[in-house]
Amino acid sequence: MSAIELKVLTKCFPSRDGKGDVTAVDRVSLSVRAGEFVCLLGPSGCGKTTALRCLAGFEQPTSGGIFVGGRDITRVPAHRRNLPLVFQNYALFPHLTVSDNIAYGLRLKKIPAAERTRQVAAVMERLDLQGLGQRHPDQLSGGQQQRVALARALVLQPAVMLFDEPLCNLDAKLRAPAEIYTRPVNRFVADFIGRANFVDGTIVRTESGQCTVRALGTTVQAGLPNGATLAAGDRVTLMIRHEAIIPATGGATAFAGRVNQTIYLGDQALYELTVGGHTLYMQVANPEPASLDTRGATLDLAIHSNGCIVLPMQ
Ligand SMILES: Nc1ncnc2c1ncn2[C@@H]1O[C@H](COP(=O)(O)OP(=O)(O)O)[C@@H](O)[C@H]1O
Ligand SMILES: [Mg+2]
Repeated sequence: MSAIELKVLTKCFPSRDGKGDVTAVDRVSLSVRAGEFVCLLGPSGCGKTTALRCLAGFEQPTSGGIFVGGRDITRVPAHRRNLPLVFQNYALFPHLTVSDNIAYGLRLKKIPAAERTRQVAAVMERLDLQGLGQRHPDQLSGGQQQRVALARALVLQPAVMLFDEPLCNLDAKLRAPAEIYTRPVNRFVADFIGRANFVDGTIVRTESGQCTVRALGTTVQAGLPNGATLAAGDRVTLMIRHEAIIPATGGATAFAGRVNQTIYLGDQALYELTVGGHTLYMQVANPEPASLDTRGATLDLAIHSNGCIVLPMQ
């Protein structure tokens, strides 16, 4: 049985100008098993926060159902769900001290004062917040505020924790997951995480996770997405990461590219190239500024199969 199940969840908001509704969450179905760590990933405005707010009980879905441990909680109010949500802006109570912020949910649950004090102290120690109990939120750093918000949720010992944008204060490189970068399931995902070139191609043959593709007037070795049912003859979109286009060495030339422009970025340079009728981008690491190729130069290029994958044509 799933720990959490969203069944065809939809949430519409009336638009302010009265011209039709905004569909914030559009028929989302999702099963989460106990012990799983699940992320909702998508561009701004796609409905992540609204889906979390529905799950936590702060929004009433327009249609669809929410089940926890097999129980339908769609109409259960937020304070009876024990699904605390750590808000993106933390939403600490500004007029309460750190200790009182953390104790808030325990008070609602009518936990006796002595036990409340013990549990608050334990969670503050766990999150390295000792000594801050009498401060107010505006006397804390951003990171400390985030830990108070986390403590306020953790102290309730919930079976499920919900976080809205918990990593937004971390560097992008800490967040970029390798599997999505190297094995995106479609063009949208490939473009959302990192930068890539996309060209049309036809599969010539497939073999154990790899394939040969006819594209750009040559043949290219590329990865096959996990679980793909692609076969020889299929038309595909070939994704080539910018860093997978490399200068050819030792007769391994795949194609020639004409340089339109080069952009020097310190630790890397970006080349805009014309290959056949296509505009492709090539990223070169640690470039020597003086030796960057100039507009009009023709380069012999190859493709590194690590940064190259076929995607179903959409
Ligand atoms: N209370 C609201 N009233 C009207 N529209 C809303 C409301 N909350 C969110 N929306 C709209 O719903 C869509 C999804 O928003 P949101 O869930 O905040 O996206 P995300 O968290 O993925 O950035 C957006 O178009 C947003 O403008
Ligand atoms: Mg959001």
